[in-house]
Amino acid sequence: MNSEWYMDAVIYALHVKTFFDGNGDGIGDFAGLTLKLDYLASLGVTCLWLLPFCESPLRDDGYDVAHYERVDPRYGSLADFRRFLDAAHARGLRVVTELVLNHTSDAHPWFQAARRAPAGSSKRNFYVWSDTDRRYAGARVIFRDAETSNWAWDPIARAYYWHRFFSHQPDLNFDNPRVRRAVIKVMRFWLDAGVDGLRLDAVSHLYEREGTSCDNLPETHEYLRELRRIVDGHYGDRVLIAEVNQSPAVTRSYFGEGDECHICFHFPLVPRILAALRRGEASGIADVVRTTADVPAGCQWAVFLRNHDDVSLSAETAAERDFLLASYAPDSRMRLNQGIRRRLAPLVGNDRRRIELAFALLFSLPGTPVIYYGDEIGMGDNVALPDRDGLRTPMQWTADATGGFTTGAVSPIVPPPIDDPEFGYQTVNVAAQSLGDGARDDASASRRASLGASIARMIHTRRKHRAFGRGTIEFLDVRNPHLLAFVRRTADESILVVANLSDAVQLVACDGLPPVERHLAPAAGEPAGTDANGSISMQPISCQWFEISSLRSLTPA
Ligand code: GLC
Ligand code: CA
Repeated sequence: MNSEWYMDAVIYALHVKTFFDGNGDGIGDFAGLTLKLDYLASLGVTCLWLLPFCESPLRDDGYDVAHYERVDPRYGSLADFRRFLDAAHARGLRVVTELVLNHTSDAHPWFQAARRAPAGSSKRNFYVWSDTDRRYAGARVIFRDAETSNWAWDPIARAYYWHRFFSHQPDLNFDNPRVRRAVIKVMRFWLDAGVDGLRLDAVSHLYEREGTSCDNLPETHEYLRELRRIVDGHYGDRVLIAEVNQSPAVTRSYFGEGDECHICFHFPLVPRILAALRRGEASGIADVVRTTADVPAGCQWAVFLRNHDDVSLSAETAAERDFLLASYAPDSRMRLNQGIRRRLAPLVGNDRRRIELAFALLFSLPGTPVIYYGDEIGMGDNVALPDRDGLRTPMQWTADATGGFTTGAVSPIVPPPIDDPEFGYQTVNVAAQSLGDGARDDASASRRASLGASIARMIHTRRKHRAFGRGTIEFLDVRNPHLLAFVRRTADESILVVANLSDAVQLVACDGLPPVERHLAPAAGEPAGTDANGSISMQPISCQWFEISSLRSLTPA
């Protein structure tokens, strides 16, 4: 087994419900997803992250779990899941699934039993109850567009229960040892089923303590160390991934001393990339990467441009949040809970150069990149749909009805396919773009030139160079605020990355750069040229990767 495989992984996030329908009932399913594994393998991704697929009333797209050990029958059976997993593994694709441990659906049998059990009993105390809605007032309300309090009244229990998210998602009570054991049993169920890792949803909110924000409590870290000991003791190379949307320093604490999660999502990077693209200035990216560069051995950030949620701005300063909202969410329908509910392509004005530049940075900054399904072909969103549904529409495979998602009619539980003139499946679809590395003889010129082909080429290039996944990072002082220049380096290779965030050609003075050995074509945009003095000339909104031989002439920033 490849040790620390996740360091070099390229992750692709998808919801089985919206990926591909295998049986014509209008709902994506495991049979359909299995049929699309060749597409995913040819794109070059190495690991799939499946959004929640357990039995659920789907009031939060499956993050409201009603049964942890059952596949929602609308997506298939556990046997279908296992067939999918085997087929993915046979192609060398790893599979990461969700462990939604902070809360359940109110439809979960644990909650139905708890609300009817005697007050004070262990059954009742699977959840967090109170006679008043005044406790833990220091905890912020996260879904502030939908909820006004973290407490909801239950008429059956005749008590308030605690919920950090929607009121139909009661929080489990981790002070109850039976809850801690029950969650471990669920974790082991999926690890025994063969998944390669688990994303720990909303993991910073497990415990409540008066006088605190009820986030990041020491008890939470203690429980994570317990989960990690089980993974290390019994499951070899499986990984735990923390979904923690806090400041860089707090998020970093979820690595522990290398004894908690293997991977943490790097939430602060997304707003920095968006701000840099808008201002044409690089410094914000370098600053956040520098402050998060130091992680314990064997730990890795997961970097991403977009995911299934809004672009969260909750950790931004008020001024920066206002700037990003004004720049990227001018229409109030694009906003949600202080964040921005849009996909990548529409965010950047469907500007091919900006999409590619963002991906080139994603693939070359430290961390394991995570691609949100459909972003690789430039899918759009639909702000007319509620909540985050507008960026959770079906994958667009072909120009046929429903974008080739289903042979039937799209089910009402699936958001309708995008069909506006700019982003509709009629124009934006996999069939119109090249699969794989773009070098196939049968790929037409236009498919080779497509966004999807560029993204696939970047992924394939990245996979040839371990420095992207494992290298150190050093920023270079190129004395130009529009340029970001850094070197990723392992003992065996060094790769120079230069990005031009501005709308104008920028020259990189050669005295600031190490000698270039080889241009790793292509990153994003037109190839770089050199002028008579050997300076590199960077096209507007572009990124280039170079192999370099020596670090002698570096001028570290
Ligand atoms: C996480 C998920 C989000 C969900 C929330 C509550 O933040 O990413 O989609 O709504 O948890 O489960
Ligand atoms: Ca189906």
